[in-house]
Amino acid sequence: MKINLTINGVDSTFEADPDMPLLWLIRDEAKLKGTKFGCGMALCGACSAHVDGELVRTCSYSAQMAHGKKITTIEGLSGGANRLHPIQQAWLDVGVPQCGYCQSGFMMAAAHLLEENSNPTEDDLKNSITNICRCGTHPRILKAILLAAKLQSNGTSK
Ligand code: FES
Ligand code: FES
Repeated sequence: MKINLTINGVDSTFEADPDMPLLWLIRDEAKLKGTKFGCGMALCGACSAHVDGELVRTCSYSAQMAHGKKITTIEGLSGGANRLHPIQQAWLDVGVPQCGYCQSGFMMAAAHLLEENSNPTEDDLKNSITNICRCGTHPRILKAILLAAKLQSNGTSK
């Protein structure tokens, strides 16, 4: 099946099995490697991206469902070269990552959360961000999201 979609602002067409996970289109066809494969079962969040503004676990979202949609991956989060999304700035400021594998998924989930709730509480974060980090960086992630909310409200944003 021909799949037409826009990835990070670039119109793209791929020939793909309609049931293939969107994750493989992103990684293997579009060659955007920031979106990771972890569990393959919509549990860990490593594969998170935005599809028409919604947070999606792309390992469990088919190519045909993505047809005609706008995809944003970690590579397109800031909206342009030499810019950082407040989430990315806060991640740097806090020094969040350890091995880094889960981090793009967390950042995509966090950026989506801030779009829906610009002033989240720590409880909001604990209830909304269900990604898994095997390195245990969750405390720094919470700190970074709260900082990103401040950066965003101060206009230090994308
Ligand atoms: S790889 Fe998709 S949620 Fe774990
Ligand atoms: S930083 Fe290693 S899995 Fe999260």
